[in-house]
Amino acid sequence: MVHLHKNQFSVVNALSNYYLNDHANVHRGVHSLSQRATDQFEAVRKLTREFINAAHEKEIIFTRGTTEAINLVANSFGKAFIEEGDEILISAMEHHSNIVPWQMLCDEWGAVLKVIPITDAGEIIMAEFDQLLSGKTRLVAVNHVSNSLGTINPIQEIITKAHKVAAAVLIDGAQSVPHMRVDVQELDADFYCFSSHKMYGPTGIGVLYGKEYWLNDMPPYQGGGEMIDKVSFEETTFNDLPFKFEAGNNQILLIPSHSERPFNS
Ligand SMILES: Cc1ncc(COP(=O)(O)O)c(C=O)c1O
Repeated sequence: MVHLHKNQFSVVNALSNYYLNDHANVHRGVHSLSQRATDQFEAVRKLTREFINAAHEKEIIFTRGTTEAINLVANSFGKAFIEEGDEILISAMEHHSNIVPWQMLCDEWGAVLKVIPITDAGEIIMAEFDQLLSGKTRLVAVNHVSNSLGTINPIQEIITKAHKVAAAVLIDGAQSVPHMRVDVQELDADFYCFSSHKMYGPTGIGVLYGKEYWLNDMPPYQGGGEMIDKVSFEETTFNDLPFKFEAGNNQILLIPSHSERPFNS
C-alpha cells in the first residue's frame, strides 16, 4: 500500500466522490449532475483566482497543464501580435515546454528567438538580459523556479524591465506555485502558467493566468465545445473569457473538503 501525504489523500477522496456522485459534462448539460459538476469546476476557478490573486476569474483559463498553457500563448499571442523580425527572449535554463513553442512561433512568423545566458552557478546574467532587451522584444518567457537547477529567478526585475520596452512577460510557474506564495498582480506578470499535478492535484489539468487586457485581443487557440457562442456553417462567434480559450471537455477540478484543502497548507 502506497502511503499518501494528507493532501494527496484529500485529492483522491474528492476525485472518487466526484466519479461516484457527480460525474457529468461541465457546462454542457442542464441535468443536475452536470450542474453539480459545473458548480465544482467554477468554484475551483474562484479558488485559483484567490490563490494567485488574479484580478478576475475570467483571467483564469483551465488548460491541460503548463505545456498547453505556453502553447496557447505562443499560438494565440503569435497570431495577434508577432510580426517578422520581432524578438522573443527566453533564458538558457528553460524546460523544453518553454523553448519549443517559441521556436515554432518564430518559424511560423519569422520572429527571432534570443537566449539569455546563465552563469556557471546557474543564474540568469542580468547584464546580458539588459543587452538583449530592446524595442524589438515582444515577449519574454522565463521560469520562476528552474526545474533543473532550483534557481529562483529575479522575475520581478525581469517583468519591470520588459515592461519598459512594452514587451509582455510569460512566467513558467510549474515549479514555483507549489512552493511559494505567488501574487500575479503584485508581480504584474502578463501570463503565468502552472500544472495541477505538481501540487497534489490530478494530472491533465493546469492553469494559464493571463491579463484580461491581452486575452481579450488574442484569438481562440482551439475550436469546439465551450469556446463557442453561436455556430453556423457560415460563421462562428466565440464565447467570452475565460471560456473562449477552453475548448472541449477538460479534466474535472474538485474542491477537497475545507480542512483538507491543499491550498491551505
Ligand atoms: C519548469 C517546468 N515547466 C514546464 C513543465 C511542463 O509541465 P507539464 O508537463 O505539466 O505541462 C515542467 C514539468 O516538469 C516544469 O518543471
